[in-house]
Amino acid sequence: MDFAHDVIAWKRDGNELDEPRMHAFVQGVVSGAVPSYQASALLMAMVLRGLSDGETLLLARALVDSGKTLDLRVLRRPVLDKHSSGGVGDKVTLVLAPLVAACGAVVGKMSGRGLGHTGGTLDKLESIPGFRVKLPQGDFLRQLERIGVAVVSQSERVVPADRLLYALRDVTGTVECDGVIAASIMAKKVASGTSAVVLDLKVGRGAFAADLEHAREIGRLCRLIGDDYGRPTTCLFSAMDQPLGRTVGNRLEVEEAWQVLRGDGPEDVRDLTLELAAELLPLADLGMDAAEARARAEAALADGRAAEHFERWCYVQGGDWRPGEFQRLAGHEVTSPRAGYVTAVDALAVGRAAQTAGAGRRTVEDKIDASAGVLLEHKVGDQVEAGEPLAAVFSRDPARRRQASTVLETAFTVGPEAPPPAPLVLGRE
Ligand code: URA
Repeated sequence: MDFAHDVIAWKRDGNELDEPRMHAFVQGVVSGAVPSYQASALLMAMVLRGLSDGETLLLARALVDSGKTLDLRVLRRPVLDKHSSGGVGDKVTLVLAPLVAACGAVVGKMSGRGLGHTGGTLDKLESIPGFRVKLPQGDFLRQLERIGVAVVSQSERVVPADRLLYALRDVTGTVECDGVIAASIMAKKVASGTSAVVLDLKVGRGAFAADLEHAREIGRLCRLIGDDYGRPTTCLFSAMDQPLGRTVGNRLEVEEAWQVLRGDGPEDVRDLTLELAAELLPLADLGMDAAEARARAEAALADGRAAEHFERWCYVQGGDWRPGEFQRLAGHEVTSPRAGYVTAVDALAVGRAAQTAGAGRRTVEDKIDASAGVLLEHKVGDQVEAGEPLAAVFSRDPARRRQASTVLETAFTVGPEAPPPAPLVLGRE
């Protein structure tokens, strides 16, 4: 029997993977010596048996060592990053990155594209004409030095094993292993040279973790890996039962982020951004505590510095940012079947409706439509009349528009009584 077979059988039988086994297996995935069917079998054994803390650390190390690692120490300043575990309508990075930079810290981020019902920051940024998400490393560093903010696409050479394994996990029902999720998230942060991370771990329908307890366990593992590499990591847990803000879809979300940057926009996006800024800024070299960080961030939203920094960022990264100037597509409204209160707006269904409209991908090869998406007129707790518009879906293609509106209709629940207020931030660690 070969080596990969023995490692699979070892894990299947409930034994602990040691460093040589983990390392050789992950290297084999990258070199092609371990074929995808064997990699998938080991992933399934990991899902069924779980990973110990020690195995989680070994996997993170094996992933980091599978490719190139960036050294950002030449900047002589901590480079901060925020990572969200994936949400619907989550445009927080677009606000937080320039906001934190406007407050004097450095935010350097390697980001991904959206897949399935969740959006990706790169797709949102690319809805701004000319915005370049691929930057040579030297330009990335110079931009961080010059304006304190850069968001770029993940280099193919950073953590290649994660890309290969993630593609397999996606199609073999093996995403759901806490240790693998934590190693996958944190290996990319460590290898990208991030000095300190704030994780926004989403809880609810349309998130990896359905409840807070599960999210806390993923957070604990991420912090364990962060500690192992000397990269301070803090976690915020936030609700993802309904979408964040009122827009879902790339350009629509940038427009909404701009409103927040101007001191306006939906409360939930603004609140979550400020909470994350209060976690992130104290990790910089500015000697700020959370209370001062929050006050400074609020001031930067109020006095226009955050918006100005966003404009500068777009300009430097090649984007021609003209608020409100984009192609408006035909919309289809979804109306309330009865009078009452909105008691639920299912994030998963709204994400799927936006994806159907053309805003998201089903497979990595799919092309997206920057202008497509969903605008929510009402959210949980709002009182509505029968026949009143709840949301609209925008698409270039009438057939997709109709199909998406059918999905969107299923997202809303309207009941006779107002639901109790639910907190957005569920905890921090
Ligand atoms: N995000 C990642 O980068 N990896 C996972 O496994 C899950 C979420």
